[in-house]
Amino acid sequence: ETIVETEWMDNGGQLHRGVEDGPISLVGGGLIKQLKDLGWQVNFDLHHQFEEVNALADPPIGKLRNPRLVASVTESVAKVVGGHAKNGELPVTLGGDHSLAMGTISGTLEQHPDACVVWIDAHADINTAETTGSGNIHGMPVSFLLGIETSVPQFAWVTGKPLLKADRLVYIGLRDVDAGEKRILKERNIKAFSMHEVDKYGIGKVVKMALDHVNPKRDRPIHLSFDVDALDPSVAPSTGTPARGGLTFREGHYICEEIWATGLLVALDLMEVNPSLADPTGIQQTVTIECSLVRSALGETLL
Ligand code: ARG
Ligand code: MN
Ligand code: MN
Ligand code: MN
Repeated sequence: ETIVETEWMDNGGQLHRGVEDGPISLVGGGLIKQLKDLGWQVNFDLHHQFEEVNALADPPIGKLRNPRLVASVTESVAKVVGGHAKNGELPVTLGGDHSLAMGTISGTLEQHPDACVVWIDAHADINTAETTGSGNIHGMPVSFLLGIETSVPQFAWVTGKPLLKADRLVYIGLRDVDAGEKRILKERNIKAFSMHEVDKYGIGKVVKMALDHVNPKRDRPIHLSFDVDALDPSVAPSTGTPARGGLTFREGHYICEEIWATGLLVALDLMEVNPSLADPTGIQQTVTIECSLVRSALGETLL
């Protein structure tokens, strides 16, 4: 029996307070018990204690906000997730903002260098220190993971680890991609299924095409990184950078169900739930759907 490990936190990659409370709200929503009922042995860590970085001691580097905090937390996360993967556990990381994926994916690659990443998001999160408009690092993790962004010494730890190859990454759900990001996706030939393709082919065909691209023989371990803003804001409003025209309730769950069905899932991220944004009904709705996405990715079936 594999152990599921759930972690926590971080809010430094963006500007909204409250996203650090995402994990505890999911636990309050009953996630631990639900996973136990599915038959998992759950080892819940809540917030790992990381080194605190004083905001005053963390002025921007170029446009990047909170660079030292985000660099130090993500490096710690990489160690923790890598350690759990090494023990044969399946790390489930609850965010917190999506800059955390630098840590979780690095941790996965350390143990499974041949792993592929399925990134579910409204955004490509592939800005560099140069292309970013916002300076928010949650819009940049992929450029660090691919070794495209190497100019920030604080993040040298990422590029010092096994890097993700561009052909081992696939996106589903994109619809709010910056001009500089579009350029990078084209130049590097990165496979992305936007909402246009979801509309055109349907989610069933899109998931199959995505897996055929990153995992043609269905033999590579899969890291699923799910940003809740991939879902339409009418389904999951409690998040910092909502974008209209997103995945439906069922499309989100279908992705999770299909990834689980491959038998290849080695790590799961659920990011960007911010229980301080939206009204009480919207928050409740977001927390409930997050819990059910995790359950679908970890083996819950409809029948
Ligand atoms: N592209 C925008 C930026 O760079 C938005 C990124 C949103 N990312 C996220 N993980 N929600 O700031
Ligand atoms: Mn742990
Ligand atoms: Mn994201
Ligand atoms: Mn996003």
